[in-house]
Amino acid sequence: MELTKKEIISHLKAPTKELFELADIIRKQYVKDEVHLRGLIEISNICKNNCLYCGIRAQNSSCKRYRLEKEEIITTAQKAKSLGLQTVVLQGGENDLFDIDSMVYVISQIKKLDMAITLSLGEKTKDEYEAYKKAGADRYLLRIETTNKALYEKMHPNMDFGNRLKCIETIKSLGYELGTGCLIGLPSQSIESLAEDILFFKEIDADMIGVGPFIASSDTPLKTSPNGSFQLALAVMALSRILLKNINIPATTAMETLHKEGHIIALQSGANVIMPNLTPIEHKKDYSIYPNKSGIKESDERILDDIKNKITSIGRIISSHKGFRAY
Ligand code: 5AD
Repeated sequence: MELTKKEIISHLKAPTKELFELADIIRKQYVKDEVHLRGLIEISNICKNNCLYCGIRAQNSSCKRYRLEKEEIITTAQKAKSLGLQTVVLQGGENDLFDIDSMVYVISQIKKLDMAITLSLGEKTKDEYEAYKKAGADRYLLRIETTNKALYEKMHPNMDFGNRLKCIETIKSLGYELGTGCLIGLPSQSIESLAEDILFFKEIDADMIGVGPFIASSDTPLKTSPNGSFQLALAVMALSRILLKNINIPATTAMETLHKEGHIIALQSGANVIMPNLTPIEHKKDYSIYPNKSGIKESDERILDDIKNKITSIGRIISSHKGFRAY
């Protein structure tokens, strides 16, 4: 379905039950009832950036920093495999602690397990993206966060909107499945700007879209800003499904954090992916991009069981394959 910017704006201003139902119908039509599980491994919370909203920003000295060793990442991926997962997502703060050779080693070892690999490591050089792709990485997540250049630059000191766009385009051109997305409810972010975000997802033909409400984090400059709206985040997600159709869309942790039924509601409004957190338990609490992150207190087995129960309780199926974009 093609929607104009004006139509998108009016949906965002007053999201209806019918909008969420339509997203659910389109989800079923294009990607069926399977839900893909992607095991999230947060490899390091060390970050050189100072994103105003983020709890692991460089200037937050109360954040206890860690990085996993290469072998720990590989062992964690093995555990994910033994738990039946087909994809791992290696996510981390933006830093240069893992040089190209280390990452290439980790990626190629995990590929031997016959798993799909998604990377979410921020802005890198073309050479790095290329080397990781060659080593076997399949997908890359890099949210645009917002397509409003002025807001982007306000939220991300010393970062350049143009470079963000360039990275996203490079990732796409190298043959990765590209995941992008935005934050909902940043201070002074307009509905119009969210409509532009959605049109950007369509224009770049993203393979995955992850959106979530902004959640105010203590020890950040935005600690007193109001949280984003769950309902608005859900509407951005539903519209992304309606416009892009056959892509993969996670029910995000931020949604589950703001609403106790967040995962289930998202799965019924266009989402078809969940990313269980499999970061080694001693580090889970330190990857504190926002407070009260859901799913960080239990064991991996418990987290997975809970998620699987949610999926089957609404008549959906746990996917048994890698879950690339459906064509
Ligand atoms: N609230 C919600 N999402 C956040 N992220 C970072 N900080 C926050 C926050 N305070 C999101 C960013 C990033 C993703 C990994 O986490 O959008 O891309």
